[in-house]
Amino acid sequence: MAKIGDDIALASEILNNGGLVAMPTETVYGLAGNALNLDAVHGIFEAKQRPSFDPLIVHTNSLEKVEGFVAQIPQKAKQLADAYWPGPLTLLLEKQPIIPDLVTSGLNTVAIRMPKHPVALALLENLNFPLAAPSANPFGYVSPTTAEHVNNQLGEKIDYILDGGECTVGIESTIVSFENEVPKVLRLGGLSVEDIEEVVGPVEVAIHSSSKPSAPGMLKSHYAPSKTIVLFDDINLKDITDFSEFGSLVFDQPYDFLPIENQFVLSKSGDMAEAAKNLFSGLRILDQKPQIHTIITQFVPNEGLGRAINDRIKRATVKS
Ligand code: TXA
Ligand code: MG
Repeated sequence: MAKIGDDIALASEILNNGGLVAMPTETVYGLAGNALNLDAVHGIFEAKQRPSFDPLIVHTNSLEKVEGFVAQIPQKAKQLADAYWPGPLTLLLEKQPIIPDLVTSGLNTVAIRMPKHPVALALLENLNFPLAAPSANPFGYVSPTTAEHVNNQLGEKIDYILDGGECTVGIESTIVSFENEVPKVLRLGGLSVEDIEEVVGPVEVAIHSSSKPSAPGMLKSHYAPSKTIVLFDDINLKDITDFSEFGSLVFDQPYDFLPIENQFVLSKSGDMAEAAKNLFSGLRILDQKPQIHTIITQFVPNEGLGRAINDRIKRATVKS
């Protein structure tokens, strides 16, 4: 098993030597390696069992460093970076040759993010290269929001897990592209569309949810726990004979027809940020309850971070 601790100097040393470290960010834990070292990047794909057509996000800690990785920063991208970096926002920018094609799966854009977690920032400060880091989960599974989640699934494959506590945002960063300088949201995430529009005006949201996405990695069945998960609206309660085998993941109110110990309430007070923070750990907790074979869920109010939560719920209910 990987060592877990808060030793940033040790994490830096491992990364300097081409090794892999799980790092906390405010969104989810990332599986980090030197983005400029092909062996390290190969190691990331290998550890996650991630197909090579699915590009990685490159993490760094200053705009000055970003300028060394991208050809140019469109004006609206700069405005968003100024407003929300460090934070749960990833910008797709035209890459410079220094970023390996392996990282971007051959695309001419690179996904750049400046995370807000103090441990991630301290680590990046220590390094003279950026970190490629996808979420630290096996490909297609729910993202980890604690060091323990990472250890449970990828502990054997990582050199060190830097423990920064529970992630405060809980869902992945929002991804924005700038083709022809026009901002477009490609993945809903921890920064709401409303917040983005406040800075750059109305934006198109183009979420890829097909099984053959035009942007890699936006696969329909992402975020799936291993149990069957169904929408409340798609089931007929009359067909259920044994309610003890069902669990629920609900927004603010448990169902009266299910045992309470089988249910996970995302936020009792109906707070959307709290719901986002709890989403993935709730799915994991339910996934691990042996008595439950099917999880019933339903969409949360579709505004603010609720849109990103609903996107994850939609994908989790699709079986590949
Ligand atoms: O919050 C986050 O973004 C977390 C933390 C660790 O930073 N990272 C994360 O990475 O969620 P990952 O690899 O699980 O998701 C990155 C997504 C993938 O769907 C990938 O296809 C997309 O970003 N992506 C990366 N580079 C891209 C590019 N150049 N063009 C289009 N999509 C890209
Ligand atoms: Mg992921």
